[in-house]
Amino acid sequence: MQNNPDQFSSKIGFVLAAAGSAVGIGNLVGFPVAAAKNGGGAFLLLYIFFVIAICLPLILAELSLGRATNQNPLGAFRQVSRNHKAWVLAGALSLITPFMIAVFYSVLTVWLLGYFLLVLIGQLDQLATPVYFGGFITSPWIFACLAAVIGMVIVVLKGGVRDGIEKASRLLMPMLFIMLIGLAVFVLTLPNATAGLKFYFTPQLDRITWSVVNGALSQAFFSLSLGMGILITYGSYLRKQDNLVQSAKMLACTDTGVALVAGLMTLPAIFAIYPNTNPSELSDSSVGLIFSFFPNIFMAMVPKFGYAVSSLIAATFFLLAFVAAITSLVSIIEVPVAALKAEGKKTRNAALGIVIAAVSIGAMFSALSFGQVKWLSDFAFYSGANKSLFDVLVDVFYDTILPFNGLLICLLVVWQWKRHNMTAEMLTSNKNAASGWLERYTHFAIAFWIPLILATVFVVTV
Ligand code: PHE
Repeated sequence: MQNNPDQFSSKIGFVLAAAGSAVGIGNLVGFPVAAAKNGGGAFLLLYIFFVIAICLPLILAELSLGRATNQNPLGAFRQVSRNHKAWVLAGALSLITPFMIAVFYSVLTVWLLGYFLLVLIGQLDQLATPVYFGGFITSPWIFACLAAVIGMVIVVLKGGVRDGIEKASRLLMPMLFIMLIGLAVFVLTLPNATAGLKFYFTPQLDRITWSVVNGALSQAFFSLSLGMGILITYGSYLRKQDNLVQSAKMLACTDTGVALVAGLMTLPAIFAIYPNTNPSELSDSSVGLIFSFFPNIFMAMVPKFGYAVSSLIAATFFLLAFVAAITSLVSIIEVPVAALKAEGKKTRNAALGIVIAAVSIGAMFSALSFGQVKWLSDFAFYSGANKSLFDVLVDVFYDTILPFNGLLICLLVVWQWKRHNMTAEMLTSNKNAASGWLERYTHFAIAFWIPLILATVFVVTV
């Protein structure tokens, strides 16, 4: 048991791997930009409320479901519902979701790698122009970067749970924390940075609308890797003796901490560089704009620090974001791999090969949806605009489906698995079996307001 390579070797190994999954583009880019757009402190408060009141109990539910059944998400749904058709379908959604997220997330990861390399060869000034971004994402170089990204994912996943995922996370996560703190400290020394801090920590409550509520909730789910089957899968790799509740708390704290520090880096940077700005108008939700926005921040440092130093700082940022993205991508691809291995009775390598091939094809399609291939760029029409395949995947699988998957988990636990089984699983490693506030809160809230809030937000925003 102790040396099972299909399990994490220790609690800290698990926490780092789960943090590797959770800390990603969502924390470094998504959270600060969403906070800037949605009233700074108001978004922050809402986000923290959702993390504690809704996401933390769901992290526990997913982890305990995974550990108790020792199954992939489909297997877990099947087992606790005793093969009930509707629930098996719901379990299948927990596999489709990570697959689709992998398809668009790998494209973002590819862009980050590309940006890192371009900054290294001295092209920061060009990256700051939106035209360049358009040219870059439609260039054939994208496919070279995609091949490199897929190659790295294969290397990590081929190693399996302990020698692949855990080892990579143990190396990369501390590196990421150091780079992030270094950058945040640097930004805080810039003039006018305090104006950004003020904006960040002052809740403008009048800016809270339904779409801000939905934005904060989806962002919290995405950031914590919830509703994607990842935590069920990782739960199944957890040893019985590891304290699940503590691990969940550490995971939520790490992920939220990184998002907060990323905000601490980005918002003061915006204010330092554009002193007369109104951050609510600064950024658009369009992914493309976000990508040319960051190089602009670094370009604005050039008069003070010179081109070489600014490029070095920019390269550090893109490397950081790339590392965060790769560890997330690994975790999300692990879900269908584990499922195919168990459900399709394949070897790990065969399952990995099939899933990687499918994700690569999907990623190529979404990478080609920026004007190069017409039917992919005009994939759908809604909200008064033509949407590319990439946009559709983001809208459906980032903005909408995750809280819905969370709702399904609540219903599965309450109706099929039964809450006392969940609570028993949470307490397995707790020698004196006394339940703390979080266990008691989870036991209660998962049957009452959590599903209610999730259902309400889902219905109002769909
Ligand atoms: N939690 C990741 C982030 O914040 C999102 C993610 C996780 C995406 C796992 C893909 C896979 O960016």
